[in-house]
Amino acid sequence: MTEPRLRHLLGIEDLSRSMAERILKTAQAFHEIGKRPVRKVPTLRGKTIINVFYEASTRTRTSFELAGKRLSADVVNIGGSSSSVTKGESLRDTVATLDAMHANVIVLRHSVSGAAHYVARHTQAAVVNAGDGMHQHPTQALLDVFTIRQHKGEDLSGLTVAICGDILHSRVARSNLLLLRLLGARVRLCGPRTLLPHRAQALGAELYDRLEPALEGADVVMMLRIQRERLGASLFPSLREYSRYFGLNARRLALARPDVIVMHPGPINRGVEIADDVADGPHSVILNQVEAGVAVRMAVLYYCATEPGTELMES
Ligand code: CP
Repeated sequence: MTEPRLRHLLGIEDLSRSMAERILKTAQAFHEIGKRPVRKVPTLRGKTIINVFYEASTRTRTSFELAGKRLSADVVNIGGSSSSVTKGESLRDTVATLDAMHANVIVLRHSVSGAAHYVARHTQAAVVNAGDGMHQHPTQALLDVFTIRQHKGEDLSGLTVAICGDILHSRVARSNLLLLRLLGARVRLCGPRTLLPHRAQALGAELYDRLEPALEGADVVMMLRIQRERLGASLFPSLREYSRYFGLNARRLALARPDVIVMHPGPINRGVEIADDVADGPHSVILNQVEAGVAVRMAVLYYCATEPGTELMES
């Protein structure tokens, strides 16, 4: 059967359930490559991927770069502070410039919600959203689901996932809610009332303004950091106060199922949203998430950069 192509990945709405399943299945094959002595296949030989990161990133940027290189693409990285943006160049002119160099895929991280959609309207390349403001981070949600399936099996229906923290400003929470609901999981969103988006109920989430009931019987607990860079006015008294009521510690984690897994997209603020002994404890799968990021991003790049029918690992 011919593999479909993904024109862009701007948000989870770009994925049907079958396309999401296809990406996750393909990521599984690429995950095996990461364990080989030679971690490279020629699938995207001759393709050009440009990673444009206007916001700081460790995990996403590094894993997109590794993903492109493991697929043998030519990968170029541009950072906001090292680009001509510092000389006043607009995003539109930057995109036109990259287009003139015939990029196949532009991977974009930007502080403005909707920036990836804007770029997609002005380029021939496929655009992958690597996080835009408070909007979405679709590859993070895909790697999170990949990690959940590694530990809980492929069928997510019947699983309860509690996402806790600064939900209001979190693109990770938004993309995860959409993808987890698409795949049949039950989603609880938990945080201080001032950090809960009430319209999330319309998307099928259950809202909690206390951590303990949100954790009760959960199969998966996903902790989020406070997005200090996106907080306008202070929406809670202090980090100390926040940690006291919403920090995950071993005592609170005991309310979840005995086989619960603990996730965090990173970067972690240890001692604020999560205690050291939980972040580094036996339930933590945080580094599995990082590992999954490379494989999932290889799969996304594969569907964005290849013509239908291209063999996954042709040589
Ligand atoms: N999870 C995530 O997006 O991390 P980075 O900001 O380090 O890329």
